[in-house]
Amino acid sequence: MTDTPTAGTWSAPGRVNLIGEHTDYNDGFVLPFAIEFRTAVALQTRTDGRIRVTSSFSSDAAEVAVSDLAALFPDRRDEVPEWARYPLGVAWALLEATGVDVASVPGVDLSFSSDVPVGAGLSSSAAIEGATASALNDVWGLGLDRVSLAKVGCRAENEAVGAPTGIMDQMASMLSRADAATFLDCRSLQTESVDLGFAGAGLELLVIDTKVTHAHSTGGYRERRASCEQGAAIMGVPALRDITVDDLTRARELMDDVTFRRVRHVVTENQRVLDTVETLRSAGPRAIGQLLDASHASMRDDFEISVPELDLAVDTARAAGAIGARMTGGGFGGAAIALIDHSLVASVTAAVERAFADAGYATPHIFTVHPSEGARRDA
Ligand code: GLA
Repeated sequence: MTDTPTAGTWSAPGRVNLIGEHTDYNDGFVLPFAIEFRTAVALQTRTDGRIRVTSSFSSDAAEVAVSDLAALFPDRRDEVPEWARYPLGVAWALLEATGVDVASVPGVDLSFSSDVPVGAGLSSSAAIEGATASALNDVWGLGLDRVSLAKVGCRAENEAVGAPTGIMDQMASMLSRADAATFLDCRSLQTESVDLGFAGAGLELLVIDTKVTHAHSTGGYRERRASCEQGAAIMGVPALRDITVDDLTRARELMDDVTFRRVRHVVTENQRVLDTVETLRSAGPRAIGQLLDASHASMRDDFEISVPELDLAVDTARAAGAIGARMTGGGFGGAAIALIDHSLVASVTAAVERAFADAGYATPHIFTVHPSEGARRDA
């Protein structure tokens, strides 16, 4: 172990998913981009082999010996505060992934601050994971590439936190580039940057955070994932990625109506991602509105993960002039996105606020986001 103290700051962004929802854990396609809201971690090494995490968003701190992480996760995770399972889980998953000798890495103090809205479906958790993985990878000298760091973040979320999520958020947070979306094949984990061209076309992407909170470790998300696995098993394929729109007629004959509709969402959503990439490249962002709208309808009617607040946000934005709108993220709450002319930001915002007030819903948080750079060392 080196005794030379190291200090530095790393950060990783939250993300918006432009299209491709609940396709990642079906080995399918997604098209997210990182946003300008980030989680930063200030790291300071320590000589006693312990890891301590503190944050500006929770008064709870946690501290364990690096050598005790293997005993903590996953079985004894309840011994640390919920938020601390993300960074400590990443430290654990990094050690597991590399097999590095725990005695050879220095202890660390990790101090987090973030402006990524929590519970809005903008991946505040992937931002914590990405910042932690980047910092420890550098300071512990592990030499993992960005895709491996995304996998580490996903493993931490699945096993140390216990949320059965896919790999989209971590890949978006680790690999995104400014002004572009990350087109990701969730089976091969190959990515391509796709220019969005929003600014050049005079467009803004509005996020409407409904303030309805969601939690992916419980309930609906897990259930949807199980339905998808069941649908794939009935069709005799490893994952729904292996089914095309042409197979849906046969799928309808083989399964119950609910499972069929879950399958239809995933299969058509995969196709919409491919169509969106193609349309962005051939015709530009003004041409993707119908694909966004169709994605929302599929999540509302087939996958059944929308809530009235999200539907109202989407319908109102569209009626006020949005080119297209849809809920984004895991569903059951969180945020919707609307692609709009720059000149309509104030009027669409006002229309949605009015509609929410009229419906007696909590005041939504509405803001624009811009495609931004992925995880990095800042200082
Ligand atoms: C959450 C999960 C992702 C993905 C989306 C739905 O954000 O973390 O892995 O499954 O939901 O597309």
